[in-house]
Amino acid sequence: MAVNENLNENNSQQGSEVVRGVIARAKGEPVETVNIVVPAPGEHDVVVKIQACGVCHTDLAYRDGDIEDAFPFLLGHEAAGVVERVGDAVTHVEVGDFVVLNWRAVCGECRACKKGEPKYCFNTHNASQSMTLDDDTPLTPALGIGSFAEKTLVHEKQCTKVDPEADPAAAGLLGCGIMAGLGAAVNTGEVQRGESVVVFGLGGVGLAAVAGAALAGASTVVAVDVDKRKCDVATEKFGATHAICSKDMSEDDVIEAVRELTGGFGADVAIDAVGIQPTWRQAFYSRDHAGRMVMVGVPNLTDHVDIPAIDLYGRGGSIKPAWYGDCLPERDFPAYVALSKAGNFPLDKFVSERIALDDVEQAFTTMKSGKVLRSVVEF
Ligand SMILES: NC(=O)c1ccc[n+]([C@@H]2O[C@H](COP(=O)([O-])OP(=O)(O)OC[C@H]3O[C@@H](n4cnc5c(N)ncnc54)[C@H](O)[C@@H]3O)[C@@H](O)[C@H]2O)c1
Ligand SMILES: [Zn+2]
Ligand SMILES: [Zn+2]
Repeated sequence: MAVNENLNENNSQQGSEVVRGVIARAKGEPVETVNIVVPAPGEHDVVVKIQACGVCHTDLAYRDGDIEDAFPFLLGHEAAGVVERVGDAVTHVEVGDFVVLNWRAVCGECRACKKGEPKYCFNTHNASQSMTLDDDTPLTPALGIGSFAEKTLVHEKQCTKVDPEADPAAAGLLGCGIMAGLGAAVNTGEVQRGESVVVFGLGGVGLAAVAGAALAGASTVVAVDVDKRKCDVATEKFGATHAICSKDMSEDDVIEAVRELTGGFGADVAIDAVGIQPTWRQAFYSRDHAGRMVMVGVPNLTDHVDIPAIDLYGRGGSIKPAWYGDCLPERDFPAYVALSKAGNFPLDKFVSERIALDDVEQAFTTMKSGKVLRSVVEF
């Protein structure tokens, strides 16, 4: 009897759990909150109790089938929470650790890692098993995370410990868009003290690039958006020195306006945080000669960059994509949480509203209205 009781206890401790999560079942359909099954952690897996998760454009892109076709998706990927269960071989985190989840769990073994460029890791770690619907249908977790859920299963290296005093809603945003924008300026663009920077598109990603440029010591930070409200926020809260509302301007007029604000030559670094042809063109031509252009906005599957080869060659410099802002979560997440705590980076200002798990579909509508930087689900 005592032996059986022990076995049952072990089973419930080691078994799967059923929690609520937000899924996208089919292309373009509204998302649903349903029961999902979180398996017991495999050797290097970890179950994280989610405390907060931001709503990112990429979640909407998954719902709309713009990323891949592996429905149903478990959405959510900008999250912070507490480690609740760990697999037998886990050494990276412990039960009770406060962590931000990441989608670049560097492997240390692939050719990029071996070359000393882990920011390009080609083999980043994910959980060893799938979460499922309660009829066993496997779920594809967004960016290998899936954190619009009370609990999620990830690889131990997808968890980055940060200061537990941080607000989970703000800290979790470092897990994707805010880190991507920040890193686009600091890591990919390598903004130096005294340089000039222009950022196109002032959503969460672009404003993080603005704040990152200011933090890196840029003396001129020009913020460009078609939405005047975003321009005002950029100068009032995120450190832009100038803003251009480009709504009724021609592309060439925008380029000229940036040149005027940057000594007549153009910016040292031009960051596109929209991901469309008009802003790539504006970013390309608003650089100074030999300036750096950074692409952090994600193109759709069919778009092209249409720039004459002679201009590519003749204007010199570089065009660099910023995947996840070339971040290294273990280096960068704790650092920006600390900078935020010290009042040197406005992480908390990206949290526009706090919502419930059932409100994710509504948050997509709010996102499209341009009224928020980030809606954040709190649990
Ligand atoms: N590279 C990465 O690792 C990474 C990570 C996260 C997000 N992203 C991408 O970054 C981009 C921005 O994300 P977000 O969450 O900030 O989106 P968002 O929708 O909140 O912001 C986009 C902004 O661009 C502005 N805009 C639209 N058309 C414009 C134009 N013609 N000129 C100037 N501004 C214009 C909008 O008004 C809005 O303020 C998206 O493409 C997203 O997929 C990239
Ligand atoms: Zn690697
Ligand atoms: Zn994201």
